[in-house]
Amino acid sequence: MGCGARQSSAMDRPRITIVIARAQNGVIGRDGRLPWHLPADLKRFKALTMGSAMVMGRKTFESLPGLLPGRRHIVLTRDPGWAAQGAEVAHDVDQALRLGGGEPVSVIGGADIFRLFLPLADRIELTEVLEEVQGDTCITDPRERGRWRETFNEDHAAADGRPAFSFVTLERA
Ligand SMILES: NC(=O)c1ccc[n+]([C@@H]2O[C@H](COP(=O)([O-])OP(=O)(O)OC[C@H]3O[C@@H](n4cnc5c(N)ncnc54)[C@H](OP(=O)(O)O)[C@@H]3O)[C@@H](O)[C@H]2O)c1
Repeated sequence: MGCGARQSSAMDRPRITIVIARAQNGVIGRDGRLPWHLPADLKRFKALTMGSAMVMGRKTFESLPGLLPGRRHIVLTRDPGWAAQGAEVAHDVDQALRLGGGEPVSVIGGADIFRLFLPLADRIELTEVLEEVQGDTCITDPRERGRWRETFNEDHAAADGRPAFSFVTLERA
């Protein structure tokens, strides 16, 4: 291969951001839904994902209230027969990224898909819910896997019966 030739397909990879909210004990979901209602987090989620190709697990897709405007929905499933209106179906990570077509990718969960994409992610937009929460779907603290640099941290106090939380941005170091 000549000096000017491109060697790494990583150069062609889109920028991958994981957008996820996690309680202090690792919980992200309960009974197929989010265990909390945090309007500020939903607003931030919308701003962060708008215009991106969202990649998600089939269960997360089915937990959405409907298609989210202004964003593509790339859905991972092992079921060759699965289809849903507005969903672009992928059966593995490479296929999901190919479908993204080089657009910035937002990986939005759930736990299975978080684990698949964590080694590939450039950035994590983490909402830390500062409580132990009951649930059935958990992820590890992403800072335990790989080296991350915190570039943003914004604390929000508990209010109106809702838990305190922090918005944290982690960039791969
Ligand atoms: N707190 C947050 O930020 C957040 C974000 C997202 C979701 N959630 C919550 O998390 C829960 C859902 O998450 P989950 O972990 O149970 O499910 P999920 O990751 O959304 O979806 C799991 C499904 O993805 C497919 N899948 C997994 N690994 C795959 C692979 N290697 N290749 C192809 N397909 C694969 C399978 O679909 P098939 O079964 O169709 O084969 C699997 O059943 C809900 O409670 C949801 O509300 C929370």
